[in-house]
Amino acid sequence: MSDRKILVTSALPYANGPIHLGHLVEYIQTDIWVRFQKQRGNHCYFVCADDTHGTPIMLKADREGISPEQLIAQVGEEHLADFTEFGVKFDNYHSTHSEENRTFSSLIYKRLRDAGHISSRTITQAYDPVKAMFLPDRFIKGECPKCGAADQYGDGCEVCGATYSHTELKNAVSAISGEKPIEKDSVHYFFNLADFTGMLSEWTNAGHLQTEVRNKLAEWLEGGLQQWDISRDAPYFGFEIPDAPGKYFYVWLDAPIGYMASFKNLCDKQGLDFDEFWAKDSAAELYHFIGKDIIYFHALFWPAMLSGSDFRTPSAIFAHGFLTVNGEKMSKSRGTFITARTYLEHLNPEYLRYYFAAKLSAGVDDIDLNFDDFSQRVNSDLVGKVVNIASRCSGFISKRFANILSANCSEPALFQEFINASEQIAEFYETREFAKAMREIMALADKANQYIDEKKPWMIAKQEGQDTQLHDVCSMGINLFRLLAVYLKPVIPALSENTESFLNIGSQIWPETTQPLLNHAINDFRPLMTRVEADKITAIIEASKENLEKTTDKHSQATHATGKKFEPIAGTIEFDDFAKLDLRIAKIIKANHVEGADKLLQLTVDIGDETRNIFAGIKSAYAPEDLEGKLTLVIANLAPRKMRFGYSEGMVLAAGPGGKDIWILSPDKGAAAGMRVK
Ligand code: MSP
Ligand code: ZN
Repeated sequence: MSDRKILVTSALPYANGPIHLGHLVEYIQTDIWVRFQKQRGNHCYFVCADDTHGTPIMLKADREGISPEQLIAQVGEEHLADFTEFGVKFDNYHSTHSEENRTFSSLIYKRLRDAGHISSRTITQAYDPVKAMFLPDRFIKGECPKCGAADQYGDGCEVCGATYSHTELKNAVSAISGEKPIEKDSVHYFFNLADFTGMLSEWTNAGHLQTEVRNKLAEWLEGGLQQWDISRDAPYFGFEIPDAPGKYFYVWLDAPIGYMASFKNLCDKQGLDFDEFWAKDSAAELYHFIGKDIIYFHALFWPAMLSGSDFRTPSAIFAHGFLTVNGEKMSKSRGTFITARTYLEHLNPEYLRYYFAAKLSAGVDDIDLNFDDFSQRVNSDLVGKVVNIASRCSGFISKRFANILSANCSEPALFQEFINASEQIAEFYETREFAKAMREIMALADKANQYIDEKKPWMIAKQEGQDTQLHDVCSMGINLFRLLAVYLKPVIPALSENTESFLNIGSQIWPETTQPLLNHAINDFRPLMTRVEADKITAIIEASKENLEKTTDKHSQATHATGKKFEPIAGTIEFDDFAKLDLRIAKIIKANHVEGADKLLQLTVDIGDETRNIFAGIKSAYAPEDLEGKLTLVIANLAPRKMRFGYSEGMVLAAGPGGKDIWILSPDKGAAAGMRVK
């Protein structure tokens, strides 16, 4: 184990809504980084929590007729279940509505107050006289003073983009009661951020921030720092401010303190030393992964609060960009506001983990989820390149060598080349250049496939007396596959763990001195990942539109009802019937006569992620040697059929009247085994 002690956080998701794919960019990015650190042997802890306080959560509980405590308990469970199924593995998942958080929030507040960084004064605010509560701008609606658009919020117009104060809104009403708001005075508490101008100028230029973020902060600092309003009046779901009855901490005051609270909770469970990570002189590393929308809170308020209350400041803030879907902002009506749950009901979470990894860099650029690109990348990289290596080699190892790998490493230089790549790949993971890491790993996968293509084990298998060579080549392929699996482990942990059981080995650490598996017993190969199916993506988008219908009222249903539905004509099939066919381009690797059969040839075809045995009635038109190496089309999801000569695991498509006149369908050049016909 190394000596690095690392504490990592993701931003705390609000407890008033479900986790969606946008959130997952962050949690998956953080999780990959943490898993990498752990695989390297560092002492790394990943904590998070639900962000539970504030007006929206209080009002939502109100609408649902439950207490805020009930709401946050329920949502907290849902969030954690979503994360867990996506493989996001926290060392602790807590809540900001916890005793630890109350204690630290009070402590930090008192230290700031006693050091003179808190002041109070009376301000005037909008107030709902019916609900008897002050109204945040988001809960005041009216007509835009600039363009007159109806139904705009108190802070800005979504139609013309104008920003203004709620007092300028015309015909303003409370969005909660519908009553006209009045203006009311109240005492508020403020954090004097300007006291920290010097400290922040220094800190923001001391290598804790990405360049783009640092530049943004320089602008803010130049503009001068304002006092930050940290109190809210009752009724408010949150923590009461010490010695200020009826006044509560604004949600953003106690939210980042939730990082500490969650870690303290972990320390108490596992006997870790809290101060080692948070004391002013801590030598541990502390990293916060966040989205670019909350930089102000994390790079200004948070370091100032910590420094003013005698705690250490973060080693770095890692901000990322926003997720768009098919090039646009996630949209409920387009069905691209996709919740984690909806995705999980249809697709393998590791597809998304890999796709995000393949797109993520260390910068704050937005990333786009394009579904065509998504299917193509997952199918061609993970299924077509990586898993394919194992499926191409494992069959021979099991059938011909009783699942024992060769005692000889036939290409030590190639194996070493794969090991030598470990440093570069590690460097890319460490610096959050995940897309570059994925490219490096896929280049290795290409090399492994090239090796197998050159050696052609399926040809060697047919030659007499070449057992040793066949054994060596396939064992080499498996050993290379093993290294790909370990490099991908931070990204697709489930696939990598299934690989470990297939290979009959323990949990793999980062391979710097790893030796090839020689004379080693492995287990039977089971398909490790199947291809992304296009109809699943359609289903996700449809279900996301339905989610919307459930939450809105009749007018969206009315538009939906105008969608035309054609009655089927006799003799035609529905699109759904067609979509059930898994039509694939296949490469004929081997063709043989079948003893005792006068019409059949036995074909071994490569369909991308596996090889299949197919009996085809084309003997009258083709000689086996004419077929080897050819591409054709097969139905890959036909139920296997037992024939007199063995199982046929698919069907080759051919046309013609029969006899000599049968033609197998052959795709044009450029097609490759495993491509799906759409
Ligand atoms: N509760 C605050 C964070 C408090 S941290 C002390 C919050 N919650 S959030 O649920 O709105 O967002 C949680 C994280 O997800 C944030 O870092 C946010 O930037 C990120 N994302 C939310 N939507 C996103 C996208 N569409 N794309 C990428 N990240 C996004 O903010
Ligand atoms: Zn307007």
